[in-house]
Amino acid sequence: MPVLRSTFIALSHNRPLRHFCEHSSLGVRLSSRFIAGLQIADALKVAEAVNRQGMAVTLDSLGESVTSETEAHRAADTYHQLLDLIAERKLNANVSLKLTQMGLGISPLLAETMAWKLAEHARSTGNFVRIDMEDSKVTQITLDIVRRIQARPEARDAVGVVIQAYLYRSQADIEQLAAEGIRVRLCKGAYKEPAEVAFPRKSDVDANFVRLSCLLLDSSTFHGIATHDEAMIAAVKAYAAEHAIDPGHFEFQMLYGVRRDLQRRLVQEGYKVRVYVPFGTEWYPYFMRRLAERPANVIFLARNFFRS
Ligand code: FDA
Repeated sequence: MPVLRSTFIALSHNRPLRHFCEHSSLGVRLSSRFIAGLQIADALKVAEAVNRQGMAVTLDSLGESVTSETEAHRAADTYHQLLDLIAERKLNANVSLKLTQMGLGISPLLAETMAWKLAEHARSTGNFVRIDMEDSKVTQITLDIVRRIQARPEARDAVGVVIQAYLYRSQADIEQLAAEGIRVRLCKGAYKEPAEVAFPRKSDVDANFVRLSCLLLDSSTFHGIATHDEAMIAAVKAYAAEHAIDPGHFEFQMLYGVRRDLQRRLVQEGYKVRVYVPFGTEWYPYFMRRLAERPANVIFLARNFFRS
């Protein structure tokens, strides 16, 4: 399985394949299991449906590693539109974005400026911007930028970040972020990282995920626990019950199209659940990372494709 994971992650950077997939109707059809659609309207429709099922949403306008300022500005404009539409339609939704989508690879200052403007806009409408975490080359700069945004009074508490349990540094990062009152989404981590920075063994990642979840639950800030792993979820529930932590003090987060049964069950049990809803034409790298997490999805998608 680790070989398949590496293969899909490597394929996620393959430009010709990406171009072919994103422009073929077959590709769009296959990806629809994990992607809400190509347009903002598709994402809003899905968000409404998810809200009706008692779950919150975070909207992700897909895109990463942009290579021009024009693309970065276009991406930021889409997020400004989303924040207005969420407020207008009174959706229970916030937004998630990537700094490389805001131009981090071209100019860190450009990405930071775009991100604080979005966080200020979010705060003005009572909303929130989550900065997704990308590969370990940008971990430190992402955290630095989030801290500087949080320090802006007009953006205070309207920005949060993601921490990946596979990185050795994450416990120290979580302790510091929790002390600073910055909202964290904890996930296992979706990129290919060397053993110098990340636990190579899944069992170590899982053990760290549980340890870090407990630290987050103990903090006074509202955090997100992002996983579809039933063992992780059971450990979090048990810790919360043992320490009399109210289920309203944190939320579980899951990806659109993944373990919908588990999402519904958690809601029925009284837990808060937020679904990460990605949309847009640039779905290929996101889609390949989902296949990397569970290569069996290829068989699952093929079976559904030939059935329909
Ligand atoms: P794990 O991969 O161990 O899977 C446990 C079980 O969950 C599997 O056995 C299967 O049943 C189910 N499952 C998991 N993935 C599946 C899939 N793709 N399809 C079908 N079933 C699946 N990563 C990152 O590096 N930066 C980020 O900012 C984010 N953001 C983020 C937000 C949210 C809301 C979620 C849920 C996840 C992320 N991730 C992420 C991705 C994360 O790092 C991780 O790769 C995936 O969540 C898969 O890990 P699990 O914790 O689900 O467990």
